[in-house]
Amino acid sequence: MTGRLIFVLMLSVANAMLTTSPGFAADGDPAAGKDIFARTCENCHAVVIGVNKVGPSLWNVVDRKPAAVPDFAYSDAMKANKQPWTVAALDTYLADPRGDVHGVKMFFKGLPNSTDRANVIAYLQTLK
Ligand code: HEC
Repeated sequence: MTGRLIFVLMLSVANAMLTTSPGFAADGDPAAGKDIFARTCENCHAVVIGVNKVGPSLWNVVDRKPAAVPDFAYSDAMKANKQPWTVAALDTYLADPRGDVHGVKMFFKGLPNSTDRANVIAYLQTLK
């Protein structure tokens, strides 16, 4: 009986989390985003200034112009991209990197879940 009650409670919590998910990047949770970043981005991206891996450092990336990290060999597609990395631009890009601007260099399928994207972007906003 208690087990069943707990199960029902857990379901309602999960449901509340789903229905209150912001769906817009500005309201993400940076702590959750940090976990997602560690799992999905960190192999290729450092978050400290001046460290490039397979991808460029993402330190201070929010609102910066694309392809701005010195010493990183960006693709022509990224160099041609003139739209600054606003929250909205990052959201579009991370949903489908290679379908957005990406030329070929970021071999990453993207984050289909909008809450995951919001959280990762909220985390990127802390990298200053
Ligand atoms: C397999 C490696 C890889 C993974 C995984 C990856 N990236 Fe990238 N990323 C790259 C590469 C390579 C580039 C440079 C792309 C180019 O020049 O075309 C890049 C570029 C970027 C840029 C543009 C940077 C700039 O200076 O203009 C952003 C923002 C970005 N990635 C965010 C992310 C985030 C956030 C994640 C995780 C959700 C992620 N990437 C996962 C390899 C990766």
